[in-house]
Amino acid sequence: MSKKLLLASLIALVLSICTTARCTFAQPKPYDVIYAWNQIDFQFDSPQQREQYLENRGFIPENNAFTGIKVSGDRVFLTVARWLPGVPATLTYVSYNRTVGPQPNKSPPLIPYPSWEFNQEGNCSVIHDRSWFVQHPSMKADPDALVINIEGKNYTFETALDGIALSNRDSNFSTIYFSPLSSLNVFSISSETARQAGTSNQAGIQLKDSEVTLVGKKESQTDGMTIDANGVLYYGLLGMSGISGWNTTEARMTDANQVLVAQNDAELQWPDTFSIDTDGYLFANPNRLHRFFTKTSNFTEINFRVVRIFINSKSYMYSKELLME
Ligand SMILES: *[C@@H]1O[C@H](CO)[C@@H](O)[C@H](O)[C@H]1NC(C)=O
Ligand SMILES: *[C@@H]1O[C@H](CO)[C@@H](O)[C@H](O)[C@H]1NC(C)=O
Ligand SMILES: *[C@@H]1O[C@H](CO)[C@@H](O)[C@H](O)[C@H]1NC(C)=O
Ligand SMILES: *[C@@H]1O[C@H](CO)[C@@H](O)[C@H](O)[C@H]1NC(C)=O
Ligand SMILES: *[C@@H]1O[C@H](CO)[C@@H](O)[C@H](O)[C@H]1NC(C)=O
Ligand SMILES: *[C@@H]1O[C@H](CO)[C@@H](O)[C@H](O)[C@H]1NC(C)=O
Repeated sequence: MSKKLLLASLIALVLSICTTARCTFAQPKPYDVIYAWNQIDFQFDSPQQREQYLENRGFIPENNAFTGIKVSGDRVFLTVARWLPGVPATLTYVSYNRTVGPQPNKSPPLIPYPSWEFNQEGNCSVIHDRSWFVQHPSMKADPDALVINIEGKNYTFETALDGIALSNRDSNFSTIYFSPLSSLNVFSISSETARQAGTSNQAGIQLKDSEVTLVGKKESQTDGMTIDANGVLYYGLLGMSGISGWNTTEARMTDANQVLVAQNDAELQWPDTFSIDTDGYLFANPNRLHRFFTKTSNFTEINFRVVRIFINSKSYMYSKELLME
């Protein structure tokens, strides 16, 4: 082989490796809608109990929106925010058959977990809380990013720190990424900094500017975020009804290294939070919160979905090496 040819094939090889690596999460992917609901309903003990809840205003259907999702084995856990009256349970699940995927009972009622009693308003008997309380101006809403345009309408939110993701196991969970909802910026701090602040007796440690890194800018605002075993950060793009990914191995987020993973104007409105299962799927719960907050939900349409996208990875809790098995 001539030197020139060798060089050319080496370059081609390097290029193809880079392209493959990048392409592991490049280009928008197909997604499955696993469940879809016009309105949230619960699995009550009996139809009579449901009637009673409705009558006593213990259940006001239009005040219920699920905001959090976590997949575990044959269950998809969904949390329902108690922002308004008439939310009978806040921690719930629906059964999920991993082999079937998109489920036959596409709008199952949410089952309170572990029980109705546990979900009684004000019953915090079983919750053990451990939190670190740190603050920094980067966690506040950015006055220049309050407006989110969805389906041609402007929605104004002034919401501070919202999306948080811990870096993957192979990074030793060393970094915490965060973004206020009303902001395009993603910041990071070292987990050690947060841990130290947590051990101090002082509440509300003010982080130094030097402890906060501006990682980059997204195309739109984001609610939840998560990181997979490969170190890819996944986050919603609220103004684009999309989900994007960025490889945290890259030092900075740029326009060029963020990749749109899924997008759909109707089905992926407000991709709220994320969870990654052990079969290689990223789950999200697009829930049209912009309509919920402005009381403009149209309940003859689907407002709440659970979708999954094959990303061939696992959650940040797993080492990359385990993916090879
Ligand atoms: C992330 O970037 C690193 C370094 O360029 C690369 O080795 C790795 O394959 C990338 N990961 C993904 C999932 O694209
Ligand atoms: C899941 O669905 C498959 C295929 O229909 C069925 O064989 C299996 O029994 C189901 N698993 C559970 C736990 O229901
Ligand atoms: C609170 O939850 C606990 C644990 O599930 C349960 O034993 C208890 O009865 C509940 N208390 C009320 C007032 O519902
Ligand atoms: C939405 O807000 C932007 C500024 O953020 C403005 O330029 C645009 O005209 C607004 N659109 C509508 C439909 O009000
Ligand atoms: C994680 O910790 C292990 C053990 O201390 C160390 O060998 C490894 O280099 C660390 N990895 C990173 C990415 O910091
Ligand atoms: C609600 O959705 C239905 C079905 O898409 C549509 O026919 C109807 O016009 C919508 N109502 C409003 C007020 O937008």
